[in-house]
Amino acid sequence: MPTPPQDTAVTTRDFPAFKRAGRRIVVVTAYDALFGRLVDEAGVDAVLVGDSLNQVIAGRETTLSATLEQMIYHGAMVRRGVRRALVVVDMPFLTYQVSREEAIRNCGRVMQETGAQAVKLEGGAAMADTVRAVVAAGIPVMGHVGLTPQSVHALGGYRVQGRDEEGAARLEADGRALEAAGVFAVVLELMPAALAERVSRALVVPTIGIGAGPGCDGQVLVLPDLLGLNDRFAPKFLKRYAELAGEVRRAVGAYADEVRRGAYPDAGHSF
Ligand code: KIV
Repeated sequence: MPTPPQDTAVTTRDFPAFKRAGRRIVVVTAYDALFGRLVDEAGVDAVLVGDSLNQVIAGRETTLSATLEQMIYHGAMVRRGVRRALVVVDMPFLTYQVSREEAIRNCGRVMQETGAQAVKLEGGAAMADTVRAVVAAGIPVMGHVGLTPQSVHALGGYRVQGRDEEGAARLEADGRALEAAGVFAVVLELMPAALAERVSRALVVPTIGIGAGPGCDGQVLVLPDLLGLNDRFAPKFLKRYAELAGEVRRAVGAYADEVRRGAYPDAGHSF
């Protein structure tokens, strides 16, 4: 029997409690108030304002050029649409890697200017001291290891991580280092299902998988991908729950046809 959505506001402290209770955590991305409201009403536990918006909304090749101002703009929009789910905003490339002071200041700006309840930073053991400093400033942090899209060029492309034992051990150590630094959850992206299950068992905080199989404590998907709006993107891990790209083309095509034929607006749609 699936657990119904929690009807009170979800907080970061609920995440480890969800894991202890064996309740799987549902996360989805959103980039504006309209979809923030719809996914909140659908009962998700958390809404991630992902820097994937730089690809799926802004049409860029990678997430690297997303800026702090853009993430704040979209984060504030989403926050205005969401009443119950936890809102997490991605920190964009180069806003937290340069120094701990910059990381605290930039994460703090996101919290102050969007009203979100948490931020997400990419990177494992190498980011642990930064995560510790941000958490110590009172800012909840979600970690992100495995395929970390901001490092796509260092990783040699969007490829599955941790396929050999050395890589797998490194990813498990990354998860442990982030947990010790104080994250409330960790995204595991693009890794073998057995490794994601191993990391999930090793950690007390929940893991949120994407392309990491069924052994994680929760899942996240990019909303336009799961809705079938981004119909040119079809990786193996993605399941589409709707085919809205075709619906959009059909509806806009029907509108265009009626306008051209003079069938819309008709008397019933006029004052
Ligand atoms: O930017 C994003 O949407 C993400 C998810 C894919 C986890 O980081």
